[in-house]
Amino acid sequence: MTDSVYPLEPSAEEMRAMADQATQRIIDHIASLPEQPATYSEDGQTVANGLSEALPETGTAFAELLDLLFDQAIPVSYNTAGPGYLAYIPGGGVFSSAVADYIANAVNRYVGVWVAAPGLVQLEVNVVRWFCEIVGYPADAGGILTSGGSLANFTAMVTARRERLPDNFLTGTIYTSDQTHHSVRKAAVLAGFPAENVREIPTEQCEIRLDALQQRIEEDRGAGFQPFMVVASAGTTNTGAIDDLNGVADIADREGLWLHIDAAYGGFFVLTSRGRAALQGLDRAHSVVLDPHKGLFLPYGIGSLLVRDAGALKRAHATSADYMPPMQDDPKLIDFCELSPELSRDFRGLRAWLPIKLYGIDAFRESLDEKLDLTAWAADELRTIPNMEIVAEPPLSVVAFRLVPPGRSEDEVDDLNRRLLEAINARRNVYLTSTSLACGYTLRIRVLSFRTHRDRMEQCLKDIRESVEELV
Ligand SMILES: Cc1ncc(COP(=O)(O)O)c(C=O)c1O
Repeated sequence: MTDSVYPLEPSAEEMRAMADQATQRIIDHIASLPEQPATYSEDGQTVANGLSEALPETGTAFAELLDLLFDQAIPVSYNTAGPGYLAYIPGGGVFSSAVADYIANAVNRYVGVWVAAPGLVQLEVNVVRWFCEIVGYPADAGGILTSGGSLANFTAMVTARRERLPDNFLTGTIYTSDQTHHSVRKAAVLAGFPAENVREIPTEQCEIRLDALQQRIEEDRGAGFQPFMVVASAGTTNTGAIDDLNGVADIADREGLWLHIDAAYGGFFVLTSRGRAALQGLDRAHSVVLDPHKGLFLPYGIGSLLVRDAGALKRAHATSADYMPPMQDDPKLIDFCELSPELSRDFRGLRAWLPIKLYGIDAFRESLDEKLDLTAWAADELRTIPNMEIVAEPPLSVVAFRLVPPGRSEDEVDDLNRRLLEAINARRNVYLTSTSLACGYTLRIRVLSFRTHRDRMEQCLKDIRESVEELV
């Protein structure tokens, strides 16, 4: 509600009051994150039902709307921004990114074409350039910021298809492992391929088997298919496994395939010395996905696709129309709409630019290093719990584990671990999730929040120990 003649144009005073009220609630919320339960969703349906409403004809006071958000809607959720969120792939939510979004949305400049906001476009170009540098790409590489890893994988798939296959592409085949994120399969189907053209190569210790990859490519060629793309994983969702990137790159070189590396989760660890050692070969890819809303702790809604030959993105996506402003010929002046499926979009570059400029990349490197330390510490602690099996040694910041007391059937062990997960999460200090691996039902700790420190990991291990004692 507003006193202005034009309610959509609040006065300076009203804007300030609105921003101040929202800021106060946000600061209180952030301050209470460590005390909030790691997850709370029991009343989800009741709350959702209570919030369902018809189109409002008239306005409501801002304070009341903030109450609705902060008192009703926000609390019933996974505490994805809190230190105890060790589930799935933790996001982050660095505050300066939120401020960047506020500025970007308030000024609402258009960054889809260079001519509409050359300075702002340059800031986003800088971000893409920095990410290329992080990966080890040459100066003429390029890329695009997306809404997340799925859209980045999709854009990579379309780019590779258009670079390597004719318009009639249905015999084209794509090689992934049985551990590759499902967004790659989805991307292939959305890009027009039959689902069965995605060949899921078996893995050993969750890493793609190079012999099986080579063999399948040869068999497919013999059967009249056109192998054109291989997708390697640099940090799988299941266990954080990293494929032998140089090994896959050698096969891609030999076979003339487009090598795409899904480093959505693991890629930014290349900033650290341990990550760099684990991710050797990353720079050999034709394209790489890095997700700043994972490895740079930014709020949900920012992924990136980096392409070694920036021209490939343009060849795949550029189209023209008479009503559009002129596009730039100078390769340094970027029209983002020519590199992606999107025309209008948010100015998402600012949410990466502001925190990186404000803190420097070293602050992120330090925090990622801390995550590696915490994970290694957690793995060592888990090893001291009787009958606890580390299913996958942490290549980065994930440790997969399960309790395997002797003399129990596979089903009994799975059931025990299911109950173990419930018991840990019921304490609400941390939230862990599970997956299904060859060995069976497996729990995971994934450390990727900038707010997770040693105190929370100690709490996590305490909760695990107590839950094990309760059950065994
Ligand atoms: C390895 C990997 N690739 C891609 C994705 C998809 O990313 P997004 O959720 O940002 O679309 C994920 C998501 O967890 C992932 O772990």
